[in-house]
Amino acid sequence: MTLNSTILTAADVALHISAELSGDGGAAVLDVTHDSRQARSGTLFVAIKGATLDGHRFVDEVVRRGAAGIISEQPAPANFDGAWLRVDRAREALARAAAVINGDPSHQIDLVGITGTNGKTTTTYLCFALAEAEGQKAAMLTTVEYRIGASSEPAVRTTPEASDTNRFLRRAVDQGCVIAVMEASSQAIDLHRCDGLRFKVAVFTNLTRDHLDYHETMENYFDAKKRLFDGRLGERPGCSVINVDDDWGVRLADELRSAGQRVVTFSQRGDADLTASDVDVSLIKGTSFALRTSDAEVNITSPLVGRPHVYNMLAATATALELGISLDAITNGLSTCVGAPGRFERVPHNGDFAVVVDYAHTDDALLNTLKTARDLTGGRIITVFGCGGDRDRSKRIPMGQVAGDHSDVVIVTSDNPRNEDPLSIISEIEKGLEQAKASYEVISDRRDAINRAIAVARSGDVVIIAGKGHETYQIVGGDKFHFDDREVAADALRRRSEDS
Ligand SMILES: Nc1ncnc2c1ncn2[C@@H]1O[C@H](COP(=O)(O)OP(=O)(O)O)[C@@H](O)[C@H]1O
Ligand SMILES: [Mg+2]
Repeated sequence: MTLNSTILTAADVALHISAELSGDGGAAVLDVTHDSRQARSGTLFVAIKGATLDGHRFVDEVVRRGAAGIISEQPAPANFDGAWLRVDRAREALARAAAVINGDPSHQIDLVGITGTNGKTTTTYLCFALAEAEGQKAAMLTTVEYRIGASSEPAVRTTPEASDTNRFLRRAVDQGCVIAVMEASSQAIDLHRCDGLRFKVAVFTNLTRDHLDYHETMENYFDAKKRLFDGRLGERPGCSVINVDDDWGVRLADELRSAGQRVVTFSQRGDADLTASDVDVSLIKGTSFALRTSDAEVNITSPLVGRPHVYNMLAATATALELGISLDAITNGLSTCVGAPGRFERVPHNGDFAVVVDYAHTDDALLNTLKTARDLTGGRIITVFGCGGDRDRSKRIPMGQVAGDHSDVVIVTSDNPRNEDPLSIISEIEKGLEQAKASYEVISDRRDAINRAIAVARSGDVVIIAGKGHETYQIVGGDKFHFDDREVAADALRRRSEDS
């Protein structure tokens, strides 16, 4: 339960979310959820009619388990005696109820929300590191993990449901965190998972073609992201940090400024509140650049590799300054933060070639990663990758094409084949490689494929192991095995150096 808060009744919650209450509103409310499996005594259950499941099917079951009441867009059934809270939009009601039931934790912490097609996870990790560099306890919600100070649990999804987020923020506040940073995916914003949260800073990284299967047009996709900034979630953020090297970012900054909102811009190209110049990227030394703010210029060094990460560092720096973190703490924090695991992560070793593990699992991300690698080496690019089973098949041929076009050596292997035949997934990828007229090897066992790539690497080469990034498992059929590309690569590197 929350500290220092009074327990609300179903009637109190109805008032807060402007619901029409029928039945007995006196029941104490301890929690809210739309997942019937989480419902227990004192839970308000939000019945949502989704595309495949209708939550109303579970009403009887959650009532039997002691639910404090039901939130629904439908009128109360005639024979229902418990509390029924009828609302116009159930998802928004879920988010607003979650905030009030947990004592509005986003009002008691400096909350940062990060949206954009790419760079959300990395920027979140950077903001977390800058808070720690200032000696402030922080929390974060990311694709990889949910973390409060030193304690971490694996993430279930990039942006959790509002009920989970508010429960998490409550714990973060109660455990003394002063800053919380979260990724806000456009789909999550669209599904009202961020409604009712008060953001001190909202960050826009970039907008490129992705997720159009969900949003259909770029205009819709932009509009979904804009909701984080323009007050449609309930409150406007205290400040919006925006990448103006992105055309959509320029438009967002203009629109927010015309509405009288506080905006801080960043750029690697031209005029902005924060800029980076003299960018130097090395696979061995990492990245350095000159950072200019409105009143200072400092040199930044970072173990992160690549120009895209300079954007992430600018975004994190602008955010940190807005939160009152000193420039000294920022330069120190950036000089040691390795970013998010599995995002162009170098596997350390003493050889004269590089081994990189990257989460790229779409053709677009693979292209970015291979281009970044190409810019950094005169040697060969050796790419190991596969595609997941039981998931979007349409990317297999394009990924094969991209790998073929932008690598010197390609080894096609398995990702998480799940319930598909690994060789049939590979044969689809091969079509793309054939279109690229590339030569390649097929080694379906991922460990053997990684061993082979590292065995053939020569001085100056870059081995890119793509697709699984931070994942520590492989799913074959119904089984989930421990498998970590970074560990497997490190083993192969050790054997290679012992043999030589
Ligand atoms: N600012 C950026 N601009 C373009 N690409 C990026 C940027 N930051 C990271 N990337 C690429 O996108 C991939 C995903 O990065 P990540 O930080 O996990 O972003 P997200 O959480 O938005 O998916 C990385 O593998 C990297 O290659
Ligand atoms: Mg992410």
